Amino acid sequence: MSLQIFRTKHLSPDDQSDTGLHRCLSAWDLALLGIGAIIGTGIFVLTGIAAATQSGPAVILSFVIAGLACTFAALAYAELSAAIGGCGSAYGYSYVAFGELFAWIIGWDLLLEYGISVAAVANGWSGYFNNAMTAIGLPLPEMLTKAPKLGGLINLPASAIILLLMGLLIMGVKHSARTNNAMVFVKLITITVFIAVAVFNVNPDNWSPFMPYGWFETLPDGKTTGVLAGASLVFFAYVGFDAVSTAAEEAKDPQRDLPFGIVASLIFCTIIYIVVSGLLTGVVPYTDLNVSSPVAHALSLIGINWASALIATGVIAGLTTVMLVLYYALTRIIFAMSRDGLLSSFFSEVNPKTQTPVRVIVMCGVVMSLIAGFMPLGDLAELVNIGTLAAFVLVCLGVLILRIAKPDMHRPFRTPFSPLFPVLGMLSCGALMAFLPALTWLRFILWLTLGLIIYFVYSMRHSKLAKSA
Ligand code: ALA
Repeated sequence: MSLQIFRTKHLSPDDQSDTGLHRCLSAWDLALLGIGAIIGTGIFVLTGIAAATQSGPAVILSFVIAGLACTFAALAYAELSAAIGGCGSAYGYSYVAFGELFAWIIGWDLLLEYGISVAAVANGWSGYFNNAMTAIGLPLPEMLTKAPKLGGLINLPASAIILLLMGLLIMGVKHSARTNNAMVFVKLITITVFIAVAVFNVNPDNWSPFMPYGWFETLPDGKTTGVLAGASLVFFAYVGFDAVSTAAEEAKDPQRDLPFGIVASLIFCTIIYIVVSGLLTGVVPYTDLNVSSPVAHALSLIGINWASALIATGVIAGLTTVMLVLYYALTRIIFAMSRDGLLSSFFSEVNPKTQTPVRVIVMCGVVMSLIAGFMPLGDLAELVNIGTLAAFVLVCLGVLILRIAKPDMHRPFRTPFSPLFPVLGMLSCGALMAFLPALTWLRFILWLTLGLIIYFVYSMRHSKLAKSA
């Protein structure tokens, strides 16, 4: 049994098609799916926190640095998603490249990435929701809008929105490509309004000092600051392009369209982030941005209340789609893992009445709702980032290993400048991990340890691959 855990999975046509999902997504649908999952709390909330506490106006550099690391990783995802496919994303690629134990670790890691992302985005959603309630004269008591660590009791709106989405998913309200495209449109209008208004209200004095916190420093309380620490926080804004790869089994022509969807959505969002973060810190002093709805707040500070209200509404709608895409991606990964026997089939059983995997939806929903209510956004985002960055490092490594181990594998898309780009991807993502606080590392290590215990107690014995061998 012990060697079994390094046994790699071989590609079979089944891996690409055995879920019976309908292949209906075009290249553009995939790119829009990516944009739907990517643009969210990162740009609408974390930009403000990072500018005020870590990067200053140089948050724009933080976005460039994080974007560059993501580009290397995205190219690696594009290669593996086109060559290997399957809805399990990095989990599935690791199964082929490194064997079962690593696949399990990455799968377990992805559960953290997607699950905690939903909770983090719900926190961002809650900030704009409270902003809108206050604007219409119905502010919620402060105790009910903040996690205990921030001086409140519970972040009730964040908790509640997840339970609401859970209800929708149980009823089988599918997050269809059409709804997604409409929501992406709303988000883009919101951003366009912000850019159009902000561009005429920039005060260049706000851009100096440009780098008030320097490049990197660890503070006495263990928190990190500086442009590089800011980069490892705003990295959260890019999380989601990898979710495109979980739609491999619904893509019309995955080998051609997945690389396009992944790379196009990332490039588009990087440009938007650079423009928006530059303008946001130009409109108001960066010190004013440490609030839960900074984009709307900045516009109301300069007296443009109509645009502030419009943006708050757009963000509330836009963030809802981010949560739905990530919630779906989470259930897909659990499906893939339970199909391989590493998780019990209990989780992926489909309820005959609603025709949805009710158990897994409820279980994930309840846990994520509790986390969203009791943990602050910054902590959640950093936890997501460390998990996602770890997955990116392994996907880049997977490209290198497979080029050597399976040189003849059909690769419809090849990462350019290999091995240089995958190595740069590993180094840049690894460096961003290193800039995260020690507490985040501790939480991440605890999560992985729990995963390893589950693997050796349960998954190793129930693995279909091990049984078939
Ligand atoms: N990138 C997504 C966001 O910023 C997760 O909300």
